[in-house]
Amino acid sequence: MMIRLAILPGDGVGPEVTDAALTVLRAVAARCGLQIETETYSIGAAAIRQRGVALPSDTLAACLAADAVLLGAVGDPSCDDLPVGERPEAGLLALRRRMEVFANLRPARLRPALAACSPITSSRSAGCDLVVVRELLGGLYFGEPRGLTADGSEAWNTLRYTAVEVDRIARTAFQLASTRRGLVTSVDKANVLETSRLWRMTVDRIAAEFPRVRLEHRYVDAFAMELVLTPARFDVVLTENLFGDILSDEAGAIVGSLGLLPSASLGAGAGLFEPVHGSAPTLAGRDAANPIGAIASIAMMLEHGFGRADAAACIEAAIDGALADGIKTADIVTSGERASSCSTLTNAIAERI
Ligand code: IPM
Ligand code: MN
Repeated sequence: MMIRLAILPGDGVGPEVTDAALTVLRAVAARCGLQIETETYSIGAAAIRQRGVALPSDTLAACLAADAVLLGAVGDPSCDDLPVGERPEAGLLALRRRMEVFANLRPARLRPALAACSPITSSRSAGCDLVVVRELLGGLYFGEPRGLTADGSEAWNTLRYTAVEVDRIARTAFQLASTRRGLVTSVDKANVLETSRLWRMTVDRIAAEFPRVRLEHRYVDAFAMELVLTPARFDVVLTENLFGDILSDEAGAIVGSLGLLPSASLGAGAGLFEPVHGSAPTLAGRDAANPIGAIASIAMMLEHGFGRADAAACIEAAIDGALADGIKTADIVTSGERASSCSTLTNAIAERI
């Protein structure tokens, strides 16, 4: 099996964690009979510095032609004063849109070796194993009109959803739940927002097509609280773009560190795979970042992009094995444990493939 990958290291710790992910991918490829071809392209602040734009046209063309895209992270403090449309983040948003990856899957599972890392009591965190299914191409991130007046006196964004957009992401969530524990928790703000009324109506309609999946609705404020109190009772959490952005960081903290979370962004064509964490500029270049978010994104790529659940399971087992042997980066050590570097943890995972 031949896989052609576009690699977009991006900013901050992005290059370190994509290197880590590729180290593990090479080990898995050798073990599972995959052939991998990679080409590297620029995005984000790195692309702004080299090419003057956050998403150069050759990067976009390569991503549209690839079998899958692996991205590190975008964002840099040097760009803080740029208008939103010219920032590194705008490059990633444009890429998601052009690749039409509307379904963003963000699994958050408490790994056995990291039970002590959760900031909540072990009786609450035990058994946490959920997936946030985040709508990725609609809502406030993309709604028009949007703007900020030159004198800074007023700004506006538009929250808009179509039934078609809600329909397709809801189907993704129900299909996923039917392969898991069969529960969809749909998160909205239907007591205040019309877009959430549409969301709820549409989700109810799709639910009727999946009689074996149970559906519950939650308001986002109450859900944010319930997530921290009873994370283990949730299975598939279906929500819109901005709520999903916020709740997935919360889920990352609950399972021990945002550095652990992978993601898969899926649509009709090639998928985009990236860790949920950002560019973490203060960690960049110090070989200190947690590579697991990026490495587990490779596992998601093999499973969801190429139907190789076997290769994905092999990566997941290697991650758990390295952690069980006490090899952990600084964000996931507990008192008395010594922190390993990003490359030490990466090599430990690759050796266990
Ligand atoms: C994420 C990030 C992005 C988002 C940024 C970098 C545009 O926070 O993937 O969660 O807001 O979607
Ligand atoms: Mn985010």
